[in-house]
Amino acid sequence: MTMEHTVTTLPTARRSGCPFDPPAELIDARRHGPISRYLFPDGHQGWLITGYDLVRSVLADSRFSSRKELMRHHPLIDYGDIEVPPAPPGEFLLMDEPQHSRYRKPLVGKFTVRRMRLLTERVEQITAEHLDAMEKAGPPADLVTAFAKPIPSVVICELLGVPYEDRGFFQDNIDKFLGGEAGDEELFAAYTATQQYLAELVAAKRANPTDDVLSDLTDSDLTDEELRGMALILLSAGYDTTANMLALGTFALLQNPDQLAALRAEPTLIDQAVEELLRYLSVAKTFMRTALEDVELGGRTIAAGTSVILSLNTANRDPERFADPHVLDLRRQDGGHLAFSHGIHQCLGQQLARVEMRVAFPALLNRFPTLRLAVPAEEVSLRPETADIYGVKSLPVTWDV
Ligand code: HEM
Repeated sequence: MTMEHTVTTLPTARRSGCPFDPPAELIDARRHGPISRYLFPDGHQGWLITGYDLVRSVLADSRFSSRKELMRHHPLIDYGDIEVPPAPPGEFLLMDEPQHSRYRKPLVGKFTVRRMRLLTERVEQITAEHLDAMEKAGPPADLVTAFAKPIPSVVICELLGVPYEDRGFFQDNIDKFLGGEAGDEELFAAYTATQQYLAELVAAKRANPTDDVLSDLTDSDLTDEELRGMALILLSAGYDTTANMLALGTFALLQNPDQLAALRAEPTLIDQAVEELLRYLSVAKTFMRTALEDVELGGRTIAAGTSVILSLNTANRDPERFADPHVLDLRRQDGGHLAFSHGIHQCLGQQLARVEMRVAFPALLNRFPTLRLAVPAEEVSLRPETADIYGVKSLPVTWDV
């Protein structure tokens, strides 16, 4: 009989010197096989899936639920015996069918490849404005506050119809609930303040519709409460993920000078480069599902009610799927990464994220041909693993003037 590989509670930080790699314990778990037992901090015995094929198959399997009220066990934190309420109306990331489709369907047409391509020019303008400001202020700069956060923040606010002057407020609050460092009270306050703000915004759009996604949605049978939930998901998913990809992606390029040089020399590489950065960094790193019935998976039985951790970042580094998975190779041909997930919850905003990254990375590199870190790489401060979205807290950079 072979011994089952068991992982007990993952570390809350990455190994020093390896800011781009999943925690060593996760890579080690994949070495033992695509599925391991996982002992959650609260004592729940669940599963950790690290292999590409199994992660992908669970994401496509309706016997695994995304419902919030079933996710009682946090992978890194012991919340004790808490009751988790269902997701509020409209927060469809944490719902199954048919509720999920009620909210996703009206949005799909607003985030198509064609619609997002039409936005390219505006994304170019927004990017140029932020680079102008950065250049004017002179080196050094924190790339997170000067570039990575404000660009996706302005884009998603304009798309949804959030007034420009309110951007800072929602940015601060979303940083709190996705940054992985706020205490329970602070987290709750940030979430409640954002909900309150969005409730007022929805009411304003209903009274005076403008030309944006949120106003369009008021012309439907969706209630104000549902619209508030949808807006919350769009704002949080659309800003923090892309912001972290831009900052961590720049850090990764600066740490891989041969790849950076290749991208500078061959600008047409950008589409491939963005896909490879998405795979290599997998900032949306782990998601949870709960088995709704007993499911046979990878030779094991996942019992009904059991929590399953899907490690997207390890799946994207699976040596059985990607050659030399731990190497950043912008010319890589083997696509199909899971950075935007798969199945019914596959990222709705992926075309928007691609447009933003395809515009912003080259614009930054062109504007600052001598861009480099302003501190030793080990001093760059990283988000903890408890953050839903991984990334850097700040990225001090400099350049020659
Ligand atoms: C590089 C940036 C991004 C990454 C890595 C990313 C990643 C993801 C992932 C992994 C999921 C699926 C979660 C699951 O399976 O449970 C997801 C869902 C989602 N994303 Fe993104 N995302 C990005 C940018 C965006 C943007 C710009 C938007 C803009 C609106 C967006 C909106 C959404 C929404 C609404 C969902 C929920 C979809 C559903 O439940 O049907 N994302 N994203």
